[in-house]
Amino acid sequence: MGNLHLIVFILVACGLCPAAFGGGDNDSRGYIPAYPNCSTTDNYTRNSQYQLNLNQLLNILPVEAKSNGGFYRTSLGAAPDEVFALIMCYSDRNWTQCENCLYAAANGISLWCPYSRTVDAVYDTCLLRYSGSSASFSTANTNVPTRPAWAARGGS
Ligand SMILES: *[C@@H]1O[C@H](CO)[C@@H](O)[C@H](O)[C@H]1NC(C)=O
Ligand SMILES: *[C@@H]1O[C@H](CO)[C@@H](O)[C@H](O)[C@H]1NC(C)=O
Ligand SMILES: *[C@@H]1O[C@H](CO)[C@@H](O)[C@H](O)[C@H]1NC(C)=O
Ligand SMILES: *[C@@H]1O[C@H](CO)[C@@H](O)[C@H](O)[C@H]1NC(C)=O
Repeated sequence: MGNLHLIVFILVACGLCPAAFGGGDNDSRGYIPAYPNCSTTDNYTRNSQYQLNLNQLLNILPVEAKSNGGFYRTSLGAAPDEVFALIMCYSDRNWTQCENCLYAAANGISLWCPYSRTVDAVYDTCLLRYSGSSASFSTANTNVPTRPAWAARGGS
């Protein structure tokens, strides 16, 4: 573990800062993935195209989901380094919780599943998935959640 690791750790951990220090909301527990399923084979390597694509995707996801009612599914890059991802809030949480979770999940996931090519992370308020395979996200896969009912309202 070099200094870079420490710096990266701090930067990533600060994705959780709003949860830890946020106003009256003490629901910080919600930003720790309850069931992070981090793949342990076929890991991507540091500075690989997959990592670059993933990092770019993680920056985009919460922003796009925020303007899309708390749900966003997309892919970025070209095969074999294309990354498919989905982020969404659960419908029984309010918009403040949703927004906080979207950003905390996208900013913090690399801390929980470093170098995992495929991740399925369930949080108290939202979920985040990514994979190098579109198969995990096809509509035939019943594990793909549907758009939350309240998302149609556009949040906020
Ligand atoms: C939030 O604070 C209340 C009151 O202090 C406490 O009962 C509850 O367990 C806290 N929740 C979390 C997730 O820390
Ligand atoms: C975790 O993900 C792998 C695919 O990466 C899947 O085969 C496995 O069933 C998942 N485990 C759980 C508990 O969901
Ligand atoms: C959202 O829910 C949390 C937890 O129940 C609550 O503390 C907060 O006041 C709610 N925020 C809004 C805007 O309803
Ligand atoms: C792949 O990454 C995971 C962490 O996400 C780690 O636990 C695992 O040991 C890594 N596997 C290999 C083969 O390096």
